[in-house]
Amino acid sequence: MAGETFTYPRDPDQEQGREWWLPAPPDRAVVGTAKMNRNQAGNGSHVASASYMVDPAHAGRGIGRALCAYSLEWARDAGFRAMQFNAVVETNTHAVRLYRSLGFTVVGTVPEAFRHPAEGYVGLHVMHRPLV
Ligand SMILES: CC(C)(COP(=O)(O)OP(=O)(O)OC[C@H]1O[C@@H](n2cnc3c(N)ncnc32)[C@H](O)[C@@H]1OP(=O)(O)O)[C@@H](O)C(=O)NCCC(=O)NCCS
Repeated sequence: MAGETFTYPRDPDQEQGREWWLPAPPDRAVVGTAKMNRNQAGNGSHVASASYMVDPAHAGRGIGRALCAYSLEWARDAGFRAMQFNAVVETNTHAVRLYRSLGFTVVGTVPEAFRHPAEGYVGLHVMHRPLV
C-alpha cells in the first residue's frame, strides 16, 4: 500500500489485510472474484483467459455468470480474439454448464489429467469461445 488512499496502517500482513478487506457478516464482503489475463505470451497473446471463484455460501445466485459475462466483455474491449480456459475439471458440472451457456465449447479433453480427491483421475476440458 502506498499510503495515499486509505486510512489503514501501512504494510499489513496477509491476515490483517484479509480482515480489513473481507469483513465478517453482517458487514458487506467480497462474494466473488475473477482473474483475467492473456492465455499465452508472444504470438499467443491475442487469446484471453480467466478464472472465477464464488463464495459457496452465495453460489447459484448468478454471481459466477455475471463475472464470466463481464470478463468476456473486458476481453473483447481489450482486443482479444477469443477466451480460452485451459483446465476445466470435467466433473465441475456447474462451471462447465455455465461456460457452455455463455457460448464456450469443449474443444478437447485431456484424459485423466486431474486427480480429483473424491472421483479419482478425471479429464480436463479445454474450453473456447471466439470473441470476433
Ligand atoms: C463455478 C462458479 C464460479 C459458479 O459461480 P455461481 O455464482 O455459483 O454461478 P451462477 O449462480 O452464475 O450459476 C451458474 C450455473 O451453475 C449452477 N449452479 C451454481 N451453483 C449451484 C448450486 N450450488 N446448485 C445448483 N446449481 C448451481 C446454476 O444453476 C447455473 O446454471 P444455470 O444458470 O444454467 O441454471 C462457482 O461455483 C465456484 O466458484 N466454484 C468453485 C471454483 C471453480 O470451480 N471455479 C471455476 C474453475 S474452471
